[in-house]
Amino acid sequence: MIILGIETTCDETSVAVVENGDKILSHVTCSQEQLHAIYGGVVPELASRRHLELIDPTVLQALQDAHLSFKDIEAIAVAHGPGLIGSLLVGINYAQGLALGLNKPLIGINHIEAHLYAAMMGNPKVFPAVGVVVSGGHTSIIEIEEIGKYQLLGQTIDDAIGEAFDKVAKMLSLPYPGGPEIERLALNGDPYRFAFHAGRVKDFPLSFSFSGLKTQVLYTLRDHPGAKIEDIAASFQRAAIDAVIEKLTRIKATTCYLGGGVTRNNYLRARVHALGISCYFPEPSLCLDNGAMIAGLAYYKRNTPQRISLKPQTRVPFFSAYA
Ligand code: KG4
Ligand code: ZN
Repeated sequence: MIILGIETTCDETSVAVVENGDKILSHVTCSQEQLHAIYGGVVPELASRRHLELIDPTVLQALQDAHLSFKDIEAIAVAHGPGLIGSLLVGINYAQGLALGLNKPLIGINHIEAHLYAAMMGNPKVFPAVGVVVSGGHTSIIEIEEIGKYQLLGQTIDDAIGEAFDKVAKMLSLPYPGGPEIERLALNGDPYRFAFHAGRVKDFPLSFSFSGLKTQVLYTLRDHPGAKIEDIAASFQRAAIDAVIEKLTRIKATTCYLGGGVTRNNYLRARVHALGISCYFPEPSLCLDNGAMIAGLAYYKRNTPQRISLKPQTRVPFFSAYA
């Protein structure tokens, strides 16, 4: 089954054509990174306007790259949330129009569930397993019974891990997005120079908290003006990743799928691999927001298409929505 997937939840306009959930026939991603970089973060109104300009050419390019035409597409999938309301509206309306015009089923996909699926794409799918989502907007640890059947084990009570990377980068006067910048600096720093640690949530050992870690960095910058910024970056990165590793160790995970933008981080990958468990990460092109994970997961949701009407949802936890 050939599905066209559309992703416009934040600042990436991305479209892919995927066959049977795993085989990527084409994948076109237009990043808006440069547009937002001067503001130090995503400006929602600018993001939705740019999506509007890019969505049509991106879809046409994806079809052309796959050497297919609209008639070959068997279903349209779109990320319907969570995300920025204006950005979601563009992708959803485009997908609805396309599905209606072509008389093809429309499949709504949860963006976070798709991040998790990105780690399964092209990889063995072995369940039960533990899922970890580490992105700019979410940090969750999930029990995966099978694709579509999940139980939330823990999530962040304040900032997402990627958000903490971005905010600490800002404190260090590094450009947006901050995650890759922190990783680059950390290569030349001592991860144990500062005893930073992420928060522990009383009675919820699998919950995450990163706001205190950010404050530790802020106070260190204030109290140690001569500190090496590489050491601060490395110590922050180590502490943020410690939080993920600690949870995986606590629940004695044996098979683990990790998805979301922070899986681009090689220090995270090395630390998870060092646990000696079966762990699966997305291909580099599937870590950040992308249309392929939307089209891929849609294959597993193909029997529950929405007949055209889909609403954008800025917040929608997939573990309860699909449980
Ligand atoms: O999954 P994603 O594209 O967007 C959301 O759905 O939130 O993730 C973007 C996040 C940003 O916070 C960015 O700083 C982070 O992923 N990120 C990284 C790295 N590359 C991207 N964080 C740490 N190390 C990286 N190499
Ligand atoms: Zn995302």
